[in-house]
Amino acid sequence: MDDSKRHHKATLAAQALGWIDETTKAIVPPVYFTSTYIRDTDNQYRTGYSYGRPHNPTSEHPEALLAALEGGDACLTFASGMAAATAVFLALKPGDHVVAPKIMYWGLRNWLQTHASEWGLAVEFVDGTSNDAIAAAVQPGRTKLVWIETPANPTWPVTDIAAAAAIAHAAGARLAIDSTVATPVLTRPIEFGADIVMHSATKYLNGHSDVVAGALVGAREDEFWERIAVIRTGNGAILGPLEAWLLLRGMRTLYLRVERACRSAEAVAAHFADHPRVAGVLYPGLAGHPGHAVAARQMSGGFGGMLSIRVAGGEAAAIAAAARVSLWKRATSLGGVESLIEHRASIEGPGTPAPPDLLRLSVGIEDSADLIDDLDQALASGN
Ligand SMILES: Cc1ncc(COP(=O)(O)O)c(C=O)c1O
Repeated sequence: MDDSKRHHKATLAAQALGWIDETTKAIVPPVYFTSTYIRDTDNQYRTGYSYGRPHNPTSEHPEALLAALEGGDACLTFASGMAAATAVFLALKPGDHVVAPKIMYWGLRNWLQTHASEWGLAVEFVDGTSNDAIAAAVQPGRTKLVWIETPANPTWPVTDIAAAAAIAHAAGARLAIDSTVATPVLTRPIEFGADIVMHSATKYLNGHSDVVAGALVGAREDEFWERIAVIRTGNGAILGPLEAWLLLRGMRTLYLRVERACRSAEAVAAHFADHPRVAGVLYPGLAGHPGHAVAARQMSGGFGGMLSIRVAGGEAAAIAAAARVSLWKRATSLGGVESLIEHRASIEGPGTPAPPDLLRLSVGIEDSADLIDDLDQALASGN
């Protein structure tokens, strides 16, 4: 049996698949800062490398690791999560019908509402928590892609991946999933029938808020996957070698970081669930969350490091509380080692599904008691 099947995924990640440089025996791969490669004298490119836009050996390291962690046949890294996600839609053809959730990463939702529609895709937004709504929206033969995100920004609704995959496949469509928040530590969507898994690798995979990157994992290398690879090359969307190297370094600690973030997020959610200054805690790990049972089926080891709180007192009280924290960092993004707090409606703007009193929390790896104290005092000092 090959090592990638024999060992636990955390082991594969810690050792970055155990790669050793044949020449130097270095246990950390070098960064290949090259844009071009020498041709053989008989005019061939036997190494497979010809130019830096289609391929780079450094980006192949995190690609091989992520494919192994997700249980996919292939992985491509991209210059950002958006470059990865949009490559999937650009691989469709004008006139194709797409089903996507109403609640999803807002940047991609905006892109689907504007560019994708102008380009000729018919995008239909549905309640991603309702299997019936997804089933009613798919048009057999015309729907080519069902896109889901679970748990989804910024209120953390949960989609049943296996049900969505069955609905998509019965209609002759593929299922693609933004699994940025779950990470392969908690959910491996290909095991539930997903065809393509997308990550903003800017978040947990890299984990140190110092890289912008994206990734797609394909369950199989079929003709659609080849179209995506051609789009990455044609659009020049490959991940740069330094970012790829940093991404691989970050992924070595993915399991430790995600496990820690889950435990702390659970503690934060439990503490603020009955807090007098909090009107509600949105976290799939809480038994009262509407998606808890489905999340428990498809997430193992925890419910993630992301949650939102609704501040009693409304929008002004929420913005004021975010202004009073000192440990939590007031910044957008998620999945880094440092905890972030964000008034989500302010960044998403008109049309956001984020209630105005909502603060989104990305729980990092600090001591959870410190995080709770900091937020407690920020909420308490507003009178
Ligand atoms: C869930 C999710 N998907 C996709 C993206 C887009 O990723 P990137 O910023 O790397 O382009 C983000 C970024 O915030 C995100 O949170």
